[in-house]
Amino acid sequence: MPTSTGYPELDALLPRLDGVARLSVDQLASELIAVLGRKNGALTEALKSVPSLPLDQRKGYGAAVNQLKASFEAAFAARREVLVSEQRGRESAEIDLTMPGRRRSGGGEHPVTRVVDEIVEIFRGLGFTVAVGPEVETEWYNFTALNFPPDHPAMDMHDTLYVDGTPIEGKQGGRLLLRTHTSPVQIRAMLESSPPLRLVIPGLVYRNDPFDASHAPAFSQIEGLAVDEGISFVDLKATLVHFAHRFFSPSTKVRFRPSFFPFTEPSAEMDVECQLCHGSGCPACKGTGWMEILGCGMVHPAVFEQSGVDPERYTGWAFGMGPHRITMLRHGIPDIRLLYDGDMRFLEQFVPGGQRGGGTAGQKS
Ligand code: PHE
Repeated sequence: MPTSTGYPELDALLPRLDGVARLSVDQLASELIAVLGRKNGALTEALKSVPSLPLDQRKGYGAAVNQLKASFEAAFAARREVLVSEQRGRESAEIDLTMPGRRRSGGGEHPVTRVVDEIVEIFRGLGFTVAVGPEVETEWYNFTALNFPPDHPAMDMHDTLYVDGTPIEGKQGGRLLLRTHTSPVQIRAMLESSPPLRLVIPGLVYRNDPFDASHAPAFSQIEGLAVDEGISFVDLKATLVHFAHRFFSPSTKVRFRPSFFPFTEPSAEMDVECQLCHGSGCPACKGTGWMEILGCGMVHPAVFEQSGVDPERYTGWAFGMGPHRITMLRHGIPDIRLLYDGDMRFLEQFVPGGQRGGGTAGQKS
């Protein structure tokens, strides 16, 4: 304990001076105010009383107060330094410099998004532009204008999801529904602008299908439409073969099979050589060596008539493909639901550069 000051009221503070070395951070802050605080600090009060003392006592008492004040100041400063260095020691003990750092996840595009972007890019390179249309359509745009007969089974409630509410009046109306394909945007595009037209139309479509390994009630499509003077089936074939060679590989074999759609005539389906077995036959292609990737055909004259395009002057071709399906074929994904689950263990496999946090998104794997 520090030695006596010779003044009992000052000596009363000596145990507290002694105690400074054991104060916590919080206690140090309050003790500082209690002793040296400008307003009611014990030593501040003592100093204030000096002028009222008899003249002969002022000097000695004032000196004693100032000395004690200096001792407290030194003790507070010393204690603060000790507390700060103790805190630093604790912090550095908590940091394990040998621990591996936490990688930041850079994220990546969904594999279906990448396929859509790649397909669109290939067609943009051929002078096509991108168009979009509404997901809620009228019966007229989705079926009638596309030359579906009024009793076509696709219009059945079992296949099409209808939207509650009053049907839209007028020629282009009818019941409201979730579009079952992107083909109604062909009609919208032709009503909006006159040929020449070269369009790709990506978007979601809806069908009243069960959610199982090969079906989803909502899935992506990309529509293509080319309308001009003198367009023939040769243009359709050449463009789609070029697409397959760009998207899959330059040596990928392609074949066209006759098919039927109410809005194209003639119609075809295009198959590409199975991307997994390269034609020898495997479970993914059901042993055929081929995978169907799109439907296509020459735009039916009745569709041109509904869309205000002169079928005597113009011809055109159209296609519709499913990026979800193409993604499955490309990567050998056995169940479409994997593309909807959002399971990172599945999705991380498609981030370029391997594990998450890898390279640039959007790069080809
Ligand atoms: N709309 C058709 C479907 O969903 C695909 C298609 C589009 C076929 C354009 C021919 C022309 O199956």
